[in-house]
Amino acid sequence: MTAGHVTVGRVTAAFPAVRGRRLRTGRALRRLVAQTRPAPADLVLPLFVKEGAVEPVPVPSMPGIVQHCPDSLRRALDGAARAGIGGVMLFGVPTRRDATGSGACDPRGVLTTAVRDTVEQVGGDLVVMADLCLDEFTDHGHCGVLDGHGAVDNDATLEHYRRMATVLADAGAHVVAPSGMMDGQVAAVRGALDAHGRQDVAILAYAAKYASAFYGPFRDAVESTLDGDRMSYQMDPANRTEALREVDLDVAEGADMVMVKPALSYLDIVSDVAARVDVPVAAYQVSGEYSMIEAAAQRGWVDRERAVLESLISIRRAGAGTVLTYWAIEAAQWLT
Ligand code: PBG
Repeated sequence: MTAGHVTVGRVTAAFPAVRGRRLRTGRALRRLVAQTRPAPADLVLPLFVKEGAVEPVPVPSMPGIVQHCPDSLRRALDGAARAGIGGVMLFGVPTRRDATGSGACDPRGVLTTAVRDTVEQVGGDLVVMADLCLDEFTDHGHCGVLDGHGAVDNDATLEHYRRMATVLADAGAHVVAPSGMMDGQVAAVRGALDAHGRQDVAILAYAAKYASAFYGPFRDAVESTLDGDRMSYQMDPANRTEALREVDLDVAEGADMVMVKPALSYLDIVSDVAARVDVPVAAYQVSGEYSMIEAAAQRGWVDRERAVLESLISIRRAGAGTVLTYWAIEAAQWLT
């Protein structure tokens, strides 16, 4: 832009040439003025743990991601702690499933066992979070139990979530993350934890969780049996203000942190939520977001490291303090 004159009332003043590029001229200057700096501690790594596995099992639709056996889980946790990331989010892949997802509440179940082992190994360095949902444990694949008509029964499901919360707390989880989008799930989980004497266990609420096609590869990762969709409980991608209502409800019910999911296609929601609440805001960069970049990078269509970092920076810039990402360890290494 060139210099010129500006007239305000009777006063005419010269203004100098405005140059946006002045602050972009060198690496050091760009670094100095960078507004968003994701740090390793902002990142949470989701991990899949497979019951009975004796070696890690690759997830075909998520190159580089495996279902862990105890040994590979230990190595991953070691890497996570060394990379200085913020925490891990554990998901269980059970061998048996039933109508009520009873494995979710089994103290010797795959998820509970993984939580116990994880806390023992890295609980001093990493925040250990557990997904609190029935979908990996039900034979129909829904996030709750079904009523006589095959619909997800909200209030009956809450009873299972209560029990699951206490079992996960007993296993040592620092944070439980109800992700089933049942109404009242945060209040139910908080009430159960408190009644169990576990006021110390925090709740990360999947508050604005959309019914998204980007969960596709995750369903591979947890061997989901879902036949149908989750439209009757997860949010419609068309809706924006509804996210604020969901978040308000969860905060009122006692959520210590709230999450928006997916991340990249929902940055408006991340931004709205961050402006609205005074609890920490997380966003989940989901499986499909991971696989899209991996697939394009494999073909040489995008620069993998730059694309990954740009996506993480964008999610942080929109207002999420915490990002759940399958690249947590690698990104942490790039960021330090
Ligand atoms: C439900 C759950 C899902 C994801 C996290 N928790 C799947 C779903 O709602 O269908 C998806 C995560 C991802 O896609 O990476 N327990």
